[in-house]
Amino acid sequence: MDRVLSAAPAAAAVDVVQRGGGSAPPPSPLSARAVGAPGALSLSPADFRTLAKLIHDEAGIVLGAQKQDMVLRRLSRRMHSLGLRSFREYAKRLQVDDGGEREHFRNALTTNLTAFFRESHHFDRLNALFAQRGPTRRLRVWSAACSTGEEPYSIAICACEHYGGGTPPVQILATDVDTQVLATARAGVYPLERLKGISEPRRRAYFDRGTGPNEGLARVREPLRRIVQWQPQNLMAADYAVEGGLDAIFLRNVLIYFDRPTQRTILARMRRLLRPDGWLFVGHSENLFHCADLFRSLGQTVYAPLPP
Ligand SMILES: C[S@@+](CC[C@H](N)C(=O)[O-])C[C@H]1O[C@@H](n2cnc3c(N)ncnc32)[C@H](O)[C@@H]1O
Repeated sequence: MDRVLSAAPAAAAVDVVQRGGGSAPPPSPLSARAVGAPGALSLSPADFRTLAKLIHDEAGIVLGAQKQDMVLRRLSRRMHSLGLRSFREYAKRLQVDDGGEREHFRNALTTNLTAFFRESHHFDRLNALFAQRGPTRRLRVWSAACSTGEEPYSIAICACEHYGGGTPPVQILATDVDTQVLATARAGVYPLERLKGISEPRRRAYFDRGTGPNEGLARVREPLRRIVQWQPQNLMAADYAVEGGLDAIFLRNVLIYFDRPTQRTILARMRRLLRPDGWLFVGHSENLFHCADLFRSLGQTVYAPLPP
């Protein structure tokens, strides 16, 4: 049954938003306390549907009814800082917005979970691709939903190791629709616990440990930074500012947020951007069965484009 959800006023909302993850957690004592508190925000099913349509139009993201709590938590902080008291007002503002507020809206509703060397078998496959291309040929790789940068930096580490040095013949383009995660990625500074997936020798070779006020942080070193180029790119955009002839595209753990027609449109464009012998990498819970006319499986969620 439809329900109206409420969230805490500003200070409490910050706490909830910072703990926010990909899926809605069970109702927390914090949000329970906030119900009915002065300044609490409510999200009606009708407002949720309006916002769900807006994020679908903006970024292709499909939000099922079970995401109502997540939308409430993630947008509350922004609404408080804008001094808005209702989601209806916020939706109206988005509808007449020239882009600035929609950027905040997109950034709030994307899910950015990622890790260094996530799905590590893909990096073994990437090494096989480097080997196939030979020692001198230049390669171009696109990390098409790069989040906070762990994926493109992992690709860069593989390239440095495979070619043995800080100037591999590999260029990596890293893009995301979320400008906030892109800024984190570009800065390349991570809390040490994020480096869990990285072996000690790799940590020493590719990261500088912070000291003093930067204790507990690590910064990606120069050779990796040089190899990766960052740029915002919405996969829903009419045109991609990406040159074709790519050797590999990492499109991992983003297709799951889109519906089938959107996935198909994006995959058809990916096929055009790949070289005929290029590879597409998708996430472990994603498959391309419904696009069997576009790609064939090479195993382990790696795909080759089929000729048009
Ligand atoms: C779960 S993360 C995946 C990160 C990385 N590829 C990985 O597998 O670890 C999904 C990313 O997709 C991005 N995203 C969602 N919709 C997008 C769109 N329409 N265009 C580009 N990126 C999008 C999100 O901002 C988020 O950073």
